[in-house]
Amino acid sequence: MSDSTKNKMWGGRFDSAPSDIMTHINASIDIDQRLWRQDIAGSKAHCQMLIKQSIISKEDGQKILDGLLQIEKEIEDGVFEFKASLEDIHMNIESRLKEIIGDSAGKLHTARSRNDQVATDFRLWVREACDDIISNIESFQVVLEKLSNIHKNSIMPGFTHLQVAQPVTLAMHLGAYSQMLARDKRRFEDCQKRLNECPLGACALSGTGFPIDRHYTAELLGFDKPMTNTMDAVSARDFANEFLFDCAQCGLHLSRLAEEIILWSTPQFGFVTLADQWSTGSSIMPQKKNPDAAELVRAKTGRLNGNLIQLMTVMKALPLTYNKDMQEDKQGVFESFDTICLCLDAMKGMLDTANFRLDKMKSATLDGYATATEIADWLVRNLNMPFRDAHHVTGRIVKMAESKNCRLDELSLTDMQGVEPRITNDIYNALDPDKAIQSRLKKP
Ligand code: ARG
Repeated sequence: MSDSTKNKMWGGRFDSAPSDIMTHINASIDIDQRLWRQDIAGSKAHCQMLIKQSIISKEDGQKILDGLLQIEKEIEDGVFEFKASLEDIHMNIESRLKEIIGDSAGKLHTARSRNDQVATDFRLWVREACDDIISNIESFQVVLEKLSNIHKNSIMPGFTHLQVAQPVTLAMHLGAYSQMLARDKRRFEDCQKRLNECPLGACALSGTGFPIDRHYTAELLGFDKPMTNTMDAVSARDFANEFLFDCAQCGLHLSRLAEEIILWSTPQFGFVTLADQWSTGSSIMPQKKNPDAAELVRAKTGRLNGNLIQLMTVMKALPLTYNKDMQEDKQGVFESFDTICLCLDAMKGMLDTANFRLDKMKSATLDGYATATEIADWLVRNLNMPFRDAHHVTGRIVKMAESKNCRLDELSLTDMQGVEPRITNDIYNALDPDKAIQSRLKKP
């Protein structure tokens, strides 16, 4: 067997080339080519460190840096040929470097292994992904804030058990989601902080005998410090799990809002009309306007949750240190990133252009006896009734309204006095949802 058909990176120890299926199952280039920028950045930093520490010569180092620059440009211009036979992004880039600069290319891998290399690239990638997601969250928050300002006094029913409970404002309702997103944002910030330690220098697993400077590479790549334990450095993927959880949790929050949009846009609720750009029609039922984007955001949680479970399952019970299993760590992370960015954008666009039907929301509040708690509170305040008794009396008033098929504020004073003779005209103030809201918003 000639040397040219054997693996270029480790052919020395092998008598034959891998079978086609071996090449196929082993290759990750289709997925991990997304790490190319981080891989080149990591290699540049490593090379600069090797020069500084006189582990390689300045001349070789400069050749390597120039070659990496050319590769960067080739990939940017879309002319770089990614090869499955070269397995992954690291070997694709290294092999191209050899084509460009010759044997000096082989010096780049001094005091490095793909194990610390991939861990570094992946941390850099996730760190940047957090930034992108945070800025997507922020721009969605701007829309929610704008709507909350507009709808400070827009009365709607608040629900528990999806049954009308008490009057709230649309600002309160949307404000709840602003809070969820604020926490999601902090989770991504937190994830970034925790992952920001540099694996480089851990090499295969136990470090290296070369006089490397791990602090220098860490600093060049914007890490806070080198990772403390080299075996942990090459085998830790909890940062990726954490990122996947943060994506799943944010997606879960979006799915709750999406579900509300779906409900609210039904004729039965009629609280919101989505803009045409954010709806689809039916090919058979001309009356239909479907909230497909909201439904898809609701559904995408399947992928987001799935990706978290996938990687947690890959990592479960995996002995130290690097195992090839860990090559399965990237696809879900990339997919969750793309998915959460898309969902945030879709929710932002949908909400920004939605038409809230304030009339419908208000009448649903009144029709749903949402101010019943106010009656009970009035009885407590004005008649000094224990709350449990007031609750019971109010229940009878609601039952009466139900049997007369009218709203609470449509009952006559005589009707209500039939249940509790001490009730006065003042109770109608309590039945006004705007006043009910105001009395709650005044609290510090
Ligand atoms: N493509 C590999 C991965 O993503 C790179 C690390 C390979 N290391 C090794 N020892 N085979 O995990």
